[in-house]
Amino acid sequence: MPVTINKLVTIERHISEQQILHASATGEFSRMMRDMLLAIRIISREVRRAGFNDILGMTESQNVHGEQVKKLDEFANETIIRAMDHGGHLCAMASEEAEGIIPIPEEYERGNYILLFDPLDGSSNIDVNVTIGTIFSVFRRVTPNRMGMGSAEDFLQPGDRQIAAGYACYGSSTNLVYTTGSGVNIFTLDPTVGEFFLTHENVRMPERGQSYSINEGNYHRWDANIQAYVDHLKKPGGKHDPYSLRYIGTAVADIHRILQHGGIFMYPADKDNTEGKLRLMYELNPLAMLIEQAGGRASNGSERILELRPEGIHQRTPVFMGSRIDVEEAEAFMRGERPPLAARQQSSNNGTVSEGGA
Ligand code: AHG
Ligand code: MN
Ligand code: MN
Repeated sequence: MPVTINKLVTIERHISEQQILHASATGEFSRMMRDMLLAIRIISREVRRAGFNDILGMTESQNVHGEQVKKLDEFANETIIRAMDHGGHLCAMASEEAEGIIPIPEEYERGNYILLFDPLDGSSNIDVNVTIGTIFSVFRRVTPNRMGMGSAEDFLQPGDRQIAAGYACYGSSTNLVYTTGSGVNIFTLDPTVGEFFLTHENVRMPERGQSYSINEGNYHRWDANIQAYVDHLKKPGGKHDPYSLRYIGTAVADIHRILQHGGIFMYPADKDNTEGKLRLMYELNPLAMLIEQAGGRASNGSERILELRPEGIHQRTPVFMGSRIDVEEAEAFMRGERPPLAARQQSSNNGTVSEGGA
């Protein structure tokens, strides 16, 4: 997608212009985002210097998921907490790298917002110089006590109540992809001036893509429906057949491609991971909000990700997200239907989803 934006708009100007449109806005949200952007710029700087600084490799510890924590996971987690805990905008935070709720220290004011984040997405790619990211999700607190600490009730809201979601993608450049529920915009960091500039306005994704993204090494652990769907994507016959496989192993990077070029990203349940691998609250909810805001669809195979009622901060769920028609076709396979190949060609021509038939 070529950059077509001539005016120079920084992300902070963009956020404050959006705030003016909301008569009731107090500026608290804009100030919270300013702190988050500072954390992301610091993480980006550290990623860009990886190899020169002492940031590659492992720490001594394991996280709540039993995964070995990398130095950059820990650095990113601490940077976000240090940037966000004293601004007076949040009443609590939660992170992939912390077991429970991260409280706001007693000495600081509490605010109206809840922040959940995956400080460093794609940890296995850190040491091999492949794209990694940071994901975040923002809710308004539901408990009334403005000065009090956020509670479980404030966190366990379905994703369709997010008031903002976004990710930073540390790739060939650093992008910040962001929504407050009125479209998706992409900003690119100019490291020489330390500012994110608007580079892609109101991103819309194709209704059908030409690639699929899944860890196909797990094929023999999947159930027959997901195996049949992936087999279907590889069969010659339709307009875009066979689909190309593109899998980076960093959800942010795979979604960043799909958000712009279309296609489908999947991490289904398998025999060993019966709830899939990815975490609902700080990975899938924010990515699903961005995908939907760009015209796509995000599902666990049968239900909308954004309508799932979370039961725990670290809950996992299977995921199928991306171009609307691709995800609808995957859902049909998950119901046991087998849309014929011919329907795939037809659906790519007229924009309708194929139904049933063996
Ligand atoms: P994280 O680094 O935050 O733990 O997330 C890694 C996730 C996600 O980014 C990616 O899509 C997936 O793990 C890759 O998993 P596999 O290695 O099992 O394919
Ligand atoms: Mn992750
Ligand atoms: Mn992570």
